[in-house]
Amino acid sequence: MTSPTPQDATAEALIAPPVDPETWCTPAQYGELYAASLRDPDGFWALQADRIDWSAKPTRINRSSFDPVDIRWYEDGELNLCFNCVDRHVFAGHGGDTALIWEGDTPGDVRSLTYDDLLREVQAMAGALKTLGAQKGDRVTIYMPMVLEGAIAMLACARIGAVHSVVFGGFSPEALAGRIEDCASRFIVTADAGMRGGKTVPLKANVDAALEQHGIDVEAVLVVRHTGSDVTMTEGRDHWYRDVAATVPATCPCEPMGAEDPLFILYTSGSTGKPKGVLHTTGGYAVWVATTFHYAFDYRPGEVYWCTADIGWVTGHSYSVYGPLLNRATSLLFEGVPNYPDHSRFWDMCERHGVNIFYTAPTAIRALMREGDAPVERHDLSALRLIGSVGEPINPEAWRWYHRVVGKGQTPVIDTWWQTETGGIMITTLPYAHAMRPGSAGLPFFGIDPELVDADGNILDGATEGNLCIAASWPGQARTVYGDHDRFVQTYFSTYKGKYFTGDGCKRDEDGYYRITGRVDDVINVSGHRMGTAEVESALVLHPRVAEAAVVGFPHDIKGQGIYCYVTLNVGEEADDALTAELKALVRKEIGPIATPDHLHFTPALPKTRSGKIMRRILRKIAENDVGALGDTSTLADPAVVDALIAGRRVV
Ligand code: PRX
Repeated sequence: MTSPTPQDATAEALIAPPVDPETWCTPAQYGELYAASLRDPDGFWALQADRIDWSAKPTRINRSSFDPVDIRWYEDGELNLCFNCVDRHVFAGHGGDTALIWEGDTPGDVRSLTYDDLLREVQAMAGALKTLGAQKGDRVTIYMPMVLEGAIAMLACARIGAVHSVVFGGFSPEALAGRIEDCASRFIVTADAGMRGGKTVPLKANVDAALEQHGIDVEAVLVVRHTGSDVTMTEGRDHWYRDVAATVPATCPCEPMGAEDPLFILYTSGSTGKPKGVLHTTGGYAVWVATTFHYAFDYRPGEVYWCTADIGWVTGHSYSVYGPLLNRATSLLFEGVPNYPDHSRFWDMCERHGVNIFYTAPTAIRALMREGDAPVERHDLSALRLIGSVGEPINPEAWRWYHRVVGKGQTPVIDTWWQTETGGIMITTLPYAHAMRPGSAGLPFFGIDPELVDADGNILDGATEGNLCIAASWPGQARTVYGDHDRFVQTYFSTYKGKYFTGDGCKRDEDGYYRITGRVDDVINVSGHRMGTAEVESALVLHPRVAEAAVVGFPHDIKGQGIYCYVTLNVGEEADDALTAELKALVRKEIGPIATPDHLHFTPALPKTRSGKIMRRILRKIAENDVGALGDTSTLADPAVVDALIAGRRVV
């Protein structure tokens, strides 16, 4: 098996970008704008703020500090993000333009909304939420399939000033319950069920299970009719969306929001057991996603743009909904999966919808590459102008296939590095300004000052490798972890004082291009989804026969990383197939199918130091089958444990 993470992509030759006179950013403009953005950040970001219609224009641009940690942008500005995404385009005479196109799991099941339609729908949803009692500042959990109403619910929250917390529809009732409780959300928007790859996902039943099993009392559950599946409705608590919407006024005003008022919470995995509720606020996020979308995708009016991410992830927030709509784009939303009904689904949709800009994840690219060129070549992709990648490192082989077969060797490929916490794209080549290097994300976006540091925090110069930090704040940066600012400070600003630490390792080459090498903490990236190894461990040790568990990632040729679990059973217990199945089911129940272990390795003991710390470095090496380079094992309490582990290694 080849590792999807290249050993040295910096050796890849640069590929010249196509020339396009209509581009928003030429190479010279990038140089000037980037220099200006670092020389005079306030001046630069004051100008970019003009992408937004403010009800009170901000005069204070950046008042952020990393020590002490206090991040504020445009703090005296006032705006409404929904107004900026929808109403203002209608007022400007663009109500007839297509805002969203949706295609369901079944090919050809299509619905489109113009900006006029979207305004009507958003007001209905906002009115429904208000009727049920939701007010400015309330948290609303959105647990939806990838349907238009998911995006509409997000915009409706922004309209009334409620804070949305979208929970990916693939998460289990347990995971959902934890996220509802953490932010004390009293309102839930869901659907009867979702469809993915021909299978029904029982969303409403999952909500019922989450609330009942955890004794959570919510004010209201708003249920969108989508599949027509049978559901149980609890009197007084559960409401059909269309019934409530039918009773509300046709208009619903936009709540004026302070720039630093919370916009959304999105849970993401960290190195400890409990997911963090990353909080983003309104003004800075709006400017950041509007600006990054404009330059990275070089969007031109009338084009059809498709980001395949689900709204349950930050990519869906910033680049399926907010970024495109702020730029008055036409954004395609897709409920299904890339291999249903067959492996040409993406390309079939690109052809039918005339997609001009396509943005997806390396895991999908690798899975489709494995099917060969024929499924792509059966379709007319001549409308494609730009293709992008996000979520995990893309190996040069997959990059080249994407460029050659999907992009016909003509389109720019952008490999965009960013995180839930960064709100939007931080490192990427710009499509017509920069040469591309397969496997490298490329150059910093405007206003971003990346620093590579060694373990002691020394800044490393020139072509080098280190831990990736960002020296100064940018508008789209997360402001805190909901309800736990100390955790925010500890996680991101304490390793290297005065800097934001990303948790990623990174190389910089002679051309100043950045290549992300992967996480340096106990977080793994499975199919572009972030997973805390501690979360999987916490699930495994819930089993009464399990004494201890240690989870690491290993290279997986489709998923990027797979989940490898070392499990120690209680004395006297023996592993068997039934236990393996039970443990996999337990992890699915606690987290969801995306966390299903690839390998369970039962072992009588784990390698520990004399002070009792598990040596994960060794566990990673064994899982990667890199047993010739285990490094120093002399501090182990019992070095013989390692030989037993190597002997019992699973073939990966
Ligand atoms: O390790 C990096 C990887 O994904 C992490 C962020 O995950 P998440 O917050 O879920 O956001 C994913 C979508 C933005 C990063 O710390 N990552 C993301 N994009 C890339 C990447 N690694 C390499 N190249 C990328 N383009």
